Amino acid sequence: MSSRALILLFFLFPGVADVAGVADAAGVADVAPMPRRPYVQNVTPTALSLLWETARTETVTAGLRSLSSSAAWKQASGPARHHEVRFEGLVPSSSYEYTVSSAAGTFRAVVRTAPEGDQPFTFLVYGDTRNGHGVHRTLAQVMAFDDADFVIHTGDFVSDGLRNDKWNQFLEYSWPLMKRLPLYPTLGNHENAFESGAENYRQIFSVPENSPYPEMVYAFTWGNSRFFVIDSNKPFIGAPQTAWLRTQLRETALDPRIRHLFVSVHHSPYTSGPHGPNQELLDSGLVDDMRRYGVDMTFSAHDHLYERGLVEGLTYIITAGGGAPIYYVKENHPTSLVTEPVHHYCRVHVDGDRVELSVWRMDGSLLDEVQLIKKGSSRHSAPGIEVVNALPRPARRAPEPRDPSPGPARPGPGAAERRSPVSLYFGLVVIFIGLAGCLFLLFFRRRRRRPTT
Ligand SMILES: [Fe+2]
Repeated sequence: MSSRALILLFFLFPGVADVAGVADAAGVADVAPMPRRPYVQNVTPTALSLLWETARTETVTAGLRSLSSSAAWKQASGPARHHEVRFEGLVPSSSYEYTVSSAAGTFRAVVRTAPEGDQPFTFLVYGDTRNGHGVHRTLAQVMAFDDADFVIHTGDFVSDGLRNDKWNQFLEYSWPLMKRLPLYPTLGNHENAFESGAENYRQIFSVPENSPYPEMVYAFTWGNSRFFVIDSNKPFIGAPQTAWLRTQLRETALDPRIRHLFVSVHHSPYTSGPHGPNQELLDSGLVDDMRRYGVDMTFSAHDHLYERGLVEGLTYIITAGGGAPIYYVKENHPTSLVTEPVHHYCRVHVDGDRVELSVWRMDGSLLDEVQLIKKGSSRHSAPGIEVVNALPRPARRAPEPRDPSPGPARPGPGAAERRSPVSLYFGLVVIFIGLAGCLFLLFFRRRRRRPTT
């Protein structure tokens, strides 16, 4: 059975992964009803947070133990339904096992603290999951096999950010990822519906509060890179977040420890999709500043497709294939290099001066691949970014928007032959299922041959 068939199996029978003990490899001792199972947030080199929600008000104990020393911590939370505990005093780039014990059972997983300095790391990016639960569930299981350090979501997690049940669905389907990887959120228009202030969003996510709009606009550092998340539901021209980002970019440019800069904003400054570019962001001058200070990549969503473009040294990515109905390419933007309307996720590996982006469809095939290299003498200067191994391909124009019903996307023309790193794991699962089936058949054949007296 091919990896493509196995993903189809995951899609049709999501319980298979759990039965095989693969999707839940981090270990959950007992699974009982819990609206929001424990998940990891706001990981730094020396601290991490755990959040969860219990079905009723209770006091819950969370424990953390080092996997490389005898150090251990315990914290009680509650009585409450919404729980958040933070562990501090940890060691960078180290693994810890957490245990959360409640009336619903005991939950365990292993999480790793952030690195310091130039140590290589990997992060995943996806967005616009919304109500595409079938795709999202499968994609999260596939992404969970990747040896990544954290995840960025480019916004539109749910179809209606005011509804708690929608958020609980999101957390349920993304739990294979979020139980061990911190997810850094970007506010989409669906989270901020009717200017609600994104209260549910702020309750669910715990990220740095270091801007005029706490948790909705923020920055964090991972290794040698600085990440900025801004909110395109709010104004840019003459607005506090614009001044904040300008100051952040200017100060970061003076920090010798930072080599790479990334920005996540839901509405992309450039797009070939039907929504069109974010003109206010362009008019605010912020994109010029990003270019001036050498931002490596911007990540966006909103137009449900994948797109990579290059504008005067600034690479922009639209990754909005997390489950929502796929859009079509309205008009190929002159700066666009690769465009494909398909469900997918992005994988970014940062190693020294090098940033390697690969993009994977749900069937495990490679959609796009590019490397950016920051030249040493001008690490924060746009002309110092060299784009290599770019694979420019003509954009395809789909005749009509695709059927919104979820399902594994078919590979487009020009699909590369390289397979996702998850293929090995899929193979192991297939072998496991095959062996179990053979043993089952052998057992029953022997029972049927046994003579009766
Ligand atoms: Fe959107």
